Order: sequence, then C-alpha cells, then structure tokens
Amino acid sequence: MDFYQVLEKRRTIRDFSDKEVTDDVLKKVLSAAFKAPTNDHLRQFEFIVVKGQENIARLVSPVAENTKNIQQNRLEIAASVMDKDEHAMFVDALPKQQRMLMQSNCLVLPFFRQKDCPLCHPADQSSLNYFASAWAAMENILLAATAEGLACAFRIPIENESEYVKKLVKAPEEYEFTCFLALGYAAKNAHICKQKEIRIEDRIHYDVW
Ligand SMILES: Cc1cc2nc3c(=O)[nH]c(=O)nc-3n(C[C@H](O)[C@H](O)[C@H](O)COP(=O)(O)O)c2cc1C
Repeated sequence: MDFYQVLEKRRTIRDFSDKEVTDDVLKKVLSAAFKAPTNDHLRQFEFIVVKGQENIARLVSPVAENTKNIQQNRLEIAASVMDKDEHAMFVDALPKQQRMLMQSNCLVLPFFRQKDCPLCHPADQSSLNYFASAWAAMENILLAATAEGLACAFRIPIENESEYVKKLVKAPEEYEFTCFLALGYAAKNAHICKQKEIRIEDRIHYDVW
C-alpha cells in the first residue's frame, strides 16, 4: 500500500475477529509513535499492552456504565442536533464501546508524560503540547496499523475512567493516556461508517477566510 492508500484505508473499525496480533507486528506498529513530531524533542511515550479477556474486562469495567448513561441521554435527542453521518456513527459506536475494547484481545494504553501543567487545566495553548504530541504519535500508530492490515478502534476516557485505569496499571502520577486503543483484525462483516465527502476546494481559503 502506498501512503495515500493507507490514508484512505485507515478507518475506525469496531468489530474484530479472533485473529491475534503478534508481538512483532505490535512492536512495529507502536514504534511508529516515535517517528511523529514531538514537542521539545521529548518522545516521552510508554505503552501498557493488555491481553486476556479477564485483564481487559477489569480495565474497561467503568466503560459500559458510563456509555449507557450517555447512550440513553444522547441518542434520544441526537437525531435533531447531529448531521446524518454523525448520527449514524453514534448509533453504530455507542453500543460497541465496551465490546470493541474486549473483542480484539489486544488493548493498548498509550501514555505520555504531561509535564508542568495538569492536562485538564492548561495555562495556555502550549501547555497542551504534550497532549498534541501524543496525538500526533497516535495518528502514526493508526496509519502503521493500517499498513500492517490491522483494524483499530479507540475510546477517549471519560468521567472516572482515566483515574481508575491509571491506578490499576500503576502509572506514574505525571503520565496520562490518550485513549483505550483496540488493535486487531477486522471481523468479516465489520461495519465501517460512511465517510464524509469533503471538497478540499471548499476548505482552503487564500489570504482571507
Ligand atoms: C479525538 C477523537 C475522539 C474519538 N472518540 C471516540 C470514542 O470515544 N469512541 C469511539 O468509538 N470512537 C471515537 N473516535 C473515532 C471517531 O468516531 C471516528 O474517527 C470518526 O467517526 C470518523 O471515522 P473514521 O475514523 O473511520 O474516519 C474518536 C476520534 C477522535 C479523533
């Protein structure tokens, strides 16, 4: 696959088969994180990899309850406030939040060092540089995974999920994780949401907006 094919092929896939990701493939994919640009040339990323249904279930146990609350509130009003594609994505994604993290049997928690300023209380935009670098690294991981024929889905931690996980995995105080990342192989009938069609000409503005 050339680079632009990888870009096209990278999609969020929330249905996994039971084919296991080997450690060699996993190492290759995660090493892509260290090729991304990073603030202050730090590259302070660490990964917790969790396999085994019981271990994963323990880590993601708050996800089901938290998602159920959102699901009930959100989907009822969703149709009126979301566009069609967004709504269709939520209808597919919300019921799968916990399952997708279990199903691939390879859960990765990408940690980054958040120095100086608490993540959720930034002093200015540059205090988010650690977070921004971590997401640049995440995109590299997603693209590398795609190039390796893997499927990916991730969930951003909400409410108590981050603190709960950090405690369980004994993460150092100054480290945060970007998301719960499921890496695996797509199920045969895996659902892929309709991609939005964007005309680039409509989004590029010369000189003024
Ligand atoms: C910042 C961010 C947060 C996201 N949070 C979630 C999430 O919590 N759960 C989930 O299933 N997908 C999540 N997604 C995936 C998006 O739903 C998905 O990228 C979007 O629908 C576009 O689909 P695509 O990735 O196939 O292009 C998130 C994506 C981004 C970039």
